[in-house]
Amino acid sequence: MPRCKTRLISRARFGVLEEQCLDPQRHNRPAFTSGVGELDEYLHRFAVQQSKKGIAVVRVLVDTDLPKTILGYYSLSAAQIDAAQMDARTQQKLPRYPVPCFRLGRLAVHSTHQGLGLGRILMGCVVARCLEARKQVAAYALVVDAQGEEAKAFYAHYGFTPCQGNPMILYLPLGAN
Ligand SMILES: CC(C)(COP(=O)(O)OP(=O)(O)OC[C@H]1O[C@@H](n2cnc3c(N)ncnc32)[C@H](O)[C@@H]1OP(=O)(O)O)[C@@H](O)C(=O)NCCC(=O)NCCS
Repeated sequence: MPRCKTRLISRARFGVLEEQCLDPQRHNRPAFTSGVGELDEYLHRFAVQQSKKGIAVVRVLVDTDLPKTILGYYSLSAAQIDAAQMDARTQQKLPRYPVPCFRLGRLAVHSTHQGLGLGRILMGCVVARCLEARKQVAAYALVVDAQGEEAKAFYAHYGFTPCQGNPMILYLPLGAN
């Protein structure tokens, strides 16, 4: 299991929220449900193995008063994207071979806690992690595969742009290092 730091986030409604690496000994994965079967199944069945194999880093958000309950989670991996999939202005700035990026494989909030700002907190955690990681290993953008139109709207809300040729893949340039 990869080691990672936790970060504490104070929220009046939840007490202290903490971002932690997914740990099967500490976190109750079967109880997590987001309303999207594929995202739930990933956490229940595949996330631990993928973390161990170095395919994805999976982090969860918990309330330190109820630390077993997963309020939300996300997975991040290294990836690349063909610059031709980006908008014309961005393409001009990039080489003609695939550019490095991070892939936000999955992000979900527990169904009973949606609409309370946890998705926003998770997105903040994701971007902060990417900005930290790319001090060591270059990455141009954060890329996400949206699982449906609602997810696509959520990412568009945060400034992600749909890829040319596949609008369900969206990207967010991370800006200058
Ligand atoms: C999509 C999801 C992650 C959003 O999390 P959430 O905790 O409900 O969202 P928040 O309450 O933090 O909302 C954050 C912001 O996103 C906006 N938002 C939330 N869902 C949205 C949607 N579907 N479309 C557009 N904007 C959305 C909110 O209005 C809010 O905007 P504001 O910060 O400007 O006020 C959550 O609803 C979820 O897990 N859904 C099921 C799984 C899913 O579809 N995951 C998407 C990734 S594949």
